[in-house]
Amino acid sequence: MSPRIRVAILAGGRSSEHEISLASARSVLEALDPERYEAVTVAIGRDGRWSLDRGQVFHVSQGAKELGPVGTRNMKDLTPTETLPIPTGSVPTTLANVDVVLPILHGPFGEDGTVQGLLELADVPYVGAGVAASSLCMDKDLFKKVMRDSGVPVTEHVALRLGDEVENPFGYPVFVKPARLGSSVGITKVHDESELGPAVELARQHDEKVLVEEFVAGMEVECGVLGNRVPPPVASLPGRIDTLEHEWYDFASKYDDGGMELIVPPELSQETIARVQQLAVDSFVASECEGMARVDFFVRDGGEVVVNELNTIPGFTATSVYAKLFEASGIPYPKLLDRLVDLALERHERRSKLKY
Ligand SMILES: Nc1ncnc2c1ncn2[C@@H]1O[C@H](COP(=O)(O)OP(=O)(O)O)[C@@H](O)[C@H]1O
Ligand SMILES: [Mg+2]
Repeated sequence: MSPRIRVAILAGGRSSEHEISLASARSVLEALDPERYEAVTVAIGRDGRWSLDRGQVFHVSQGAKELGPVGTRNMKDLTPTETLPIPTGSVPTTLANVDVVLPILHGPFGEDGTVQGLLELADVPYVGAGVAASSLCMDKDLFKKVMRDSGVPVTEHVALRLGDEVENPFGYPVFVKPARLGSSVGITKVHDESELGPAVELARQHDEKVLVEEFVAGMEVECGVLGNRVPPPVASLPGRIDTLEHEWYDFASKYDDGGMELIVPPELSQETIARVQQLAVDSFVASECEGMARVDFFVRDGGEVVVNELNTIPGFTATSVYAKLFEASGIPYPKLLDRLVDLALERHERRSKLKY
């Protein structure tokens, strides 16, 4: 029998999507075939502290919950050895001794290239997008600019940087959002001019850069992508997001029980479905993603398909949209995990041959 693959799952993290990451990591842990994998979990608290947990997988992060929301504890209270898993202790030893890392983290300090950079320095294979693709796709402003340059249609937007005057060239309604966050946190659908200032202020609590974006009337559709460069990545069947009684796909619609429904495939022509799948792969390639991504679209009432955003580490429980889309496309969740691990190993092996 060949030795088991040693996997470290990174879970939790500093962003407001901490809890969602824990749920995803728990699902991954349950689905990893114990005959094939030996798994450890590295829990990252909302305070940024890394800790290893072998047996009782999540007790550390449950403790971290008591620290309260982000920002209530000053990072300066912690020594660098607690927030950087480098000098001593069991976390670095473990990271150096696993075959592959699954960073199942969402948002800033997890999905944005920071953790990916650490794993590059540690020279350990890891699942998902690399440093540059992670940072690019985390930033809704930069991502759209690269997509426009690559011929991928995206929603119109203006970026308000720190010190910029608030402007809205699009009329109303309009969407205002922080450039680099997720789970609809800090986002407002602005109905008239009186709501614009407060919406920008809210978004600025989460990011120094804020997007004002044209409102797109139409259908919300999401599509999974899986693969590296060669062979080319594949798209899942797309699915339509029905937000039911919610006006848009806000936090409650995303995470409340019965807050949304996923319809696979969406009620669109074969031609439009094929267009969504092609653009999903095109945006994945143009942003230099590898491993996995979920690409989110709007199909305008007239039928035009535009990309809204690309998530490099989408919600990853067995019942999350990404897993459901691949399940409907013939790749069940445990197989998806096998495939992602293989892709991580393939990329690491391939890149280890490069001369610098
Ligand atoms: N330009 C837009 N037009 C219409 N709806 C939008 C627009 N931008 C965002 N939304 C709504 O807000 C949700 C969250 O926005 P999104 O940009 O995907 O941010 P997040 O990264 O938080 O998911 C979308 O799923 C959609 O329902
Ligand atoms: Mg989104």
